[in-house]
Amino acid sequence: MKPITAVVLGAGSRGCSYSGYAREYPEALQIVAVAEPRADRRDLLAQELNIPESNRFASWQELLARPRMADCVFVCTMDDDHTAPAIQAMELGYHVLLEKPMSNTEAECRLIADTASRTGRALAVCHVLRYTPFYMTLKNLIDQGQVGEVTVINQIENVGYWHQAHSFVRGNWRTVRETSPMILQKSCHDMDILLWLMGKDCRRVQSFGSLRHFTPENAPEGAPERCLDGCPHAERCPYYAPALYMDMRRTGWPVDVITTDLSEAGRRKALEEGPYGRCVYRCDNDVVDRQVVNLEFEGGAVATFTMTAFSADFSRQLKIFGTEGQITADMGTNQIVLHRFGEEKQTIPVDAARSGHGGGDYGILRDFLHVLRHGGESRTSANVSLQSHLICFAAEKSRKEHIVVEL
Ligand SMILES: NC(=O)c1ccc[n+]([C@@H]2O[C@H](COP(=O)([O-])OP(=O)(O)OC[C@H]3O[C@@H](n4cnc5c(N)ncnc54)[C@H](O)[C@@H]3O)[C@@H](O)[C@H]2O)c1
Repeated sequence: MKPITAVVLGAGSRGCSYSGYAREYPEALQIVAVAEPRADRRDLLAQELNIPESNRFASWQELLARPRMADCVFVCTMDDDHTAPAIQAMELGYHVLLEKPMSNTEAECRLIADTASRTGRALAVCHVLRYTPFYMTLKNLIDQGQVGEVTVINQIENVGYWHQAHSFVRGNWRTVRETSPMILQKSCHDMDILLWLMGKDCRRVQSFGSLRHFTPENAPEGAPERCLDGCPHAERCPYYAPALYMDMRRTGWPVDVITTDLSEAGRRKALEEGPYGRCVYRCDNDVVDRQVVNLEFEGGAVATFTMTAFSADFSRQLKIFGTEGQITADMGTNQIVLHRFGEEKQTIPVDAARSGHGGGDYGILRDFLHVLRHGGESRTSANVSLQSHLICFAAEKSRKEHIVVEL
């Protein structure tokens, strides 16, 4: 059996996250080309996967100008640069694994879904949670009827104070203008998973939230523009950049985002000159640091969702309430407790995660490759994912306009 061949568009954090799978399972997946403007990132991935010079491109535009050179593309560029490569690739006959969010506008999300239907190409959106052993176990319990009819789900997304600072204050996703609002960028996973767990269409959405903490008014007295400019609050500030990035034992994400030179000097230079060394109270960020969403589903089941920047842990927790029992679950500890009414509590075993995002990174790849080989529809196809994206757009409208949005 020949491996499925793929090209990577955008060799940043996500583009590189699939290379491990290609190395571990060369009989299943072979990555044959890469497009990436940053030469150091491009060469790093290309060397890891033995991609020849002739198949290294400086942009997705350059790669897609060539005749089709593989079975599928992995679109791993930034949020505002998903639509054009995804559509162009499908028109060329590629199947597409598309990073979330599909796009940062509703019209483009619809266009992507329409193009997938028209061209008959498989398109899977990287809603990795659906492929984690943790959420698959929860879905099985619900589908088996272990809690009766689901009436309420409460989910909390603990973004983590350092992760918020890294991605949503200093980093890539700090402004809606350049990328996407938080609900679409980060919490589209949550809207998607709530929709999946409920197994019903969402009817009404309401949301509140704002950016209150990471603003110039909250800068402590005397805080300079950059942490390394002699900040007097270095000892007490939990967001002090050297504390987050200069621990030399740490070499993976998110430290590897700030520079490819992970020496002490390389990191220091990145903090002195790049975005990740800025004081969190003196950035050009505008995305929310707290948000809640209320959702009502067909038949009256409801869900609440909380996103908070201000958590020590970096995980999701949820509680599922049914007519015959409840489930308490914590993705951080991989623990699921089922309590059927009138019976003893049971701890439900969950398989250990074998890749990033709680096992979801390899899970989605396996499912996508299976669809390409054997047909069928991906669990996170364009049409399925469009629904959760529409919930995100509705939630953002509700948050900004203070209204309940009917879907
Ligand atoms: N599925 C998930 O759970 C998950 C997790 C994190 C990020 N993401 C999504 O993945 C996408 C990428 O995120 P990331 O963290 O890898 O960001 P990143 O900045 O590390 O990577 C994006 C890469 O695209 C490259 N690029 C820019 N213009 C290009 C062009 N014209 N052609 C080819 N490459 C180009 C950039 O140089 C960069 O290396 C985002 O949309 C993000 O929302 C998904």
